Amino acid sequence: MTAVTAAKRPRVMSGMRPTGRLHIGHYFGVLTQWARYCRTADAYFEIADLHAYTTGFSDPQAIRDARNEMVIDWLAAGVDPGSSTFFLQSGIPEISELQVLLGMIAPVSWLERVPTYKGQIEALGQEIATYGFLGYPLLQLCDIAIFRGEEVPVGRDQAAHLEFGREVVRRFNYLYGGGEQILVEPKTMILEEAAEVPGTDGRKMSKSYNNAILLADDEATTTEKVRSMVTDPKKIRRNDPGNPEVCSVFALWKLVEPQHVAPVDRDCRSGVLGCVQDKGDLAEALNAYLKPIRERRALYAADTAQVERIIAEGTQRAREVARQTMINVRRAMRLL
Ligand code: TRP
Repeated sequence: MTAVTAAKRPRVMSGMRPTGRLHIGHYFGVLTQWARYCRTADAYFEIADLHAYTTGFSDPQAIRDARNEMVIDWLAAGVDPGSSTFFLQSGIPEISELQVLLGMIAPVSWLERVPTYKGQIEALGQEIATYGFLGYPLLQLCDIAIFRGEEVPVGRDQAAHLEFGREVVRRFNYLYGGGEQILVEPKTMILEEAAEVPGTDGRKMSKSYNNAILLADDEATTTEKVRSMVTDPKKIRRNDPGNPEVCSVFALWKLVEPQHVAPVDRDCRSGVLGCVQDKGDLAEALNAYLKPIRERRALYAADTAQVERIIAEGTQRAREVARQTMINVRRAMRLL
């Protein structure tokens, strides 16, 4: 296949809120995929700082501090800003302008129906029931639509946001497009792996459960956390036969060293392998796996100026695309 017949790379758009350091669940579930999209797509990765304010508005400094740390984790994981675009949401005021305009045609009832709205208020309290938080999925649509994003890789919990977004795009094109697709309907690409990384307590790995192994953790901390992991609760003594299917340590073996899965499976079931030994082995393998990632992390952490330059350059590039889309939107809405 020649370059001429090669298909155009799809525009991929995704983002993360800067709310804290990233863990190996983010790494295996999301960042490895982002790194792959750098090679196969025209990818845009957003630091969704405005979205972080929807729940974190009372601590703006925490959001500011998390911004660089998060990008350092992206870089450490091998997401390549040389073949993708990293950008800062608040650095592109056109996104907020688009949100005002699309807000005119986005029914409140559609927003109230998005399950995360009621769910998060139940989890976090009535304080977050703001106008901005209700508009979270609309702002997310604006992130995507302003770059004409075609494919959006996200966790399953985001599917309802994208579904809402597609309906708003259809409504916009119907009202103002005159037969033209001014805005693009984004496709949801569910990252199945994102659900599968267990934390030390066996629940999904998450900062809020306090069960996460961070990319920024050192080796001793990692070993300590692996030692605290839950295994098969029915395997009490070393020689008891165990069931790897219910064991968090086993789930991590699948991600860290797939060639080790068969022997661990066999020796756990037969009772030859005890949990203490298994955890020690995994801690060693995990630390070896994370070593180059952590070394890259340390290099970028020592060079904040370079990290900020990467964000600034990407934001400038992204803003050019956003400006173009807004010209089309304003024209369609008779605002030129
Ligand atoms: N809401 C997403 C999350 O919490 C983050 C996000 C913000 C996003 N804007 C986006 C994801 C645009 C995909 C596309 O995971």
